[in-house]
Amino acid sequence: MERTFLALSLLSLLVSVSLAGLTTIEHSLKEDGSLTILVVGDWGRKGTYNQSLVAEQMGKVGKELDIDFVISVGDNFYEDGLTGLDDEAFEQSFSEIYTADSLQKPWYTVLGNHDYRGDVIAQLSPVLQMVDPRFICMRSFIVNAEIVDFFLVDTTPFVVKYWTKPKDHHYDWRDVAPRETYIANLLQNLDYSLKASSARWKIVVGHHTMRSVSKHGDTEELLQYVLPVLKTNGVDFYINGHDHCLEHISSTDSPLQYFTSGGGSKAWRGVYTPNADKLQFFYDGQGFMSLKLTEYHADFAFYDVEGQELYKWSMANINRGAFPSSVSVEAERAKGTI
Ligand SMILES: *[C@@H]1O[C@H](CO)[C@@H](O)[C@H](O)[C@H]1NC(C)=O
Repeated sequence: MERTFLALSLLSLLVSVSLAGLTTIEHSLKEDGSLTILVVGDWGRKGTYNQSLVAEQMGKVGKELDIDFVISVGDNFYEDGLTGLDDEAFEQSFSEIYTADSLQKPWYTVLGNHDYRGDVIAQLSPVLQMVDPRFICMRSFIVNAEIVDFFLVDTTPFVVKYWTKPKDHHYDWRDVAPRETYIANLLQNLDYSLKASSARWKIVVGHHTMRSVSKHGDTEELLQYVLPVLKTNGVDFYINGHDHCLEHISSTDSPLQYFTSGGGSKAWRGVYTPNADKLQFFYDGQGFMSLKLTEYHADFAFYDVEGQELYKWSMANINRGAFPSSVSVEAERAKGTI
């Protein structure tokens, strides 16, 4: 029943293509004007590496917070994406894992580098929604919910080494190559859409890190090409996966905050390398993130495999474009945290 209802409600979502060429999905707020979501990344391992435990806790927290949707920050299917529309990994790593009622909501999903090693056209196909209507995966698109615009960006094509040193992997660059044209168009679309946005909160979502203290560290190409666009357009938050951990880093020369939520399955990399920005929180293990937005407040939280809240951070946004007028940070440093 839940499924039928969802299928119908997805059909009624307003979908339009903006002038800039990015598809926009309209989502409504709750009656009290708030929106609550979960963010998870780097998950599809058929339940192994604690994926099932994370999923179970997402179900519980999702119910408690009455979430509106889920954002997946990519690396949805390990090791090599989907083999095609009939790949059973889709059910085994997604439909049969995230079974809680509270998670029967749209999953707005971007691709990660591991997804690019499979049949990308299949993973992007709306035909998958006939198998599971929750899965809404596009390369780059916008989810608007009155007070907030989420700009979901396809970051894998930016990373030069996947093109020049693919090692034993094959990357599916159909509809992407040549790289230069693709990223130039994407940057232009992103800049245009950010300038056109009148939402109080502007949040950019991608698979790759901008700032990270874990195994992959910073993604130089994103710092070079994407970060300036974010800073000029007053983006509040950049949310990503790729590094299999949970972290919050504050930019030291802008109001931008970086959140990594890549703890959907395999974790515990045991790597820590600081960078010049301010590390607020780092947890090397599995887990996920929640974000509650109202017109004036953003509340973030990270949870581990037991559903324990590891860290909370809130920000008040009174004067759009200015530095936050009040920032309160509350860190509960858990085991494994530096
Ligand atoms: C699963 O989570 C527990 C608790 O954090 C951890 O001790 C264990 O190592 C994890 N298993 C894997 C395979 O990461």
